[in-house]
Amino acid sequence: MNLAELNKVALAMVASGKGLLAADESGGTIKKRFDAIGVESTENSRRDYREMLFRSADAMSNAISGVILYDETIWQNAADGTPLVKLIEQAGAIPGIKVDEGTQALPGCPGELVTVGLDKLAERLAKYHARGARFAKWRAVIDIGQGIPSMTAIHVNAHALARYAALCQQAQIVPIVEPEVLMDGDHDIDRCVEVTTQVLHETFQQLRIQRVALEGMILKPNMAISGKKSKTQASVREVAEKTVRMLKQCVPAAVPGIAFLSGGQSDLDATAHLDAMNRIGGLPWPLTFSYGRALQAAPQQAWAGKADNVGAGQQAFTHRARMNSLASNGEWTTNQENQKAA
Ligand code: 13P
Repeated sequence: MNLAELNKVALAMVASGKGLLAADESGGTIKKRFDAIGVESTENSRRDYREMLFRSADAMSNAISGVILYDETIWQNAADGTPLVKLIEQAGAIPGIKVDEGTQALPGCPGELVTVGLDKLAERLAKYHARGARFAKWRAVIDIGQGIPSMTAIHVNAHALARYAALCQQAQIVPIVEPEVLMDGDHDIDRCVEVTTQVLHETFQQLRIQRVALEGMILKPNMAISGKKSKTQASVREVAEKTVRMLKQCVPAAVPGIAFLSGGQSDLDATAHLDAMNRIGGLPWPLTFSYGRALQAAPQQAWAGKADNVGAGQQAFTHRARMNSLASNGEWTTNQENQKAA
């Protein structure tokens, strides 16, 4: 393992004014997104859609540091035969790859899940590296509900995250460590802080035990936020203050950067929260975005599967990428938000 090189890639992923595009929806998830805009999910439509994003030159060169791909996409070529990975590289961004294989029910823990995909991971990582991937992603999912999460679910998911991270570093790939505490429940923000704190402590404990070099990874956490079904919704300011405080308590300064997931927040909330955190400032790590839905909902609507709408889709993507880029520097304003991409 060349740690200096891993650290260089990790720092480039969180470079000032830049963040990650999570375009790594599995077959099932992208079908759901396409169903919502009335587009049939085929190998070609998925390719056309993602090619549209990766050819958004302004967004890709100025606001996006890297793209998380799904296995199908990393092997696909653009309509003109150029590998999609090359389009990303040509724009100056770094290709990455989702390597977990989704979740399964956790035996003995009703309602809880464990992320799988460690079998043969070393071999898969070597192939992805040869294709150009320089970072990877593994997402663990922790749900909050009546009597959950259990310590068992927190432990096995953290253990798997650390095993994945150690294998990535051995393959000269920067691991994005993503322990996601879902925002689906009716819990309040303080319960989210309590559970996320526990999850982050256990994750860093496992990373330490499994000798993962913190300088060669990126953390992708959820924000401290009210459950979607909670009657009390915390303000932007409260989300920012509680998230920053929580992260300071849990995340060692040696970690090169933190890139949040959007997790079902609205586009504007995801941008506003990131901006508010960066306005607080004085943090040991850059805070940026690694958004899926909050970057792609707008371009999906604008595109709607029609070749004639590619320009509109790219404009919508560029606008959201620019807004989140500003937020990653604490420079986002409503004025800029309302000036739709020219
Ligand atoms: P969302 O921003 O839509 O939560 O997706 C980010 C991601 O990569 C989840 O694993």
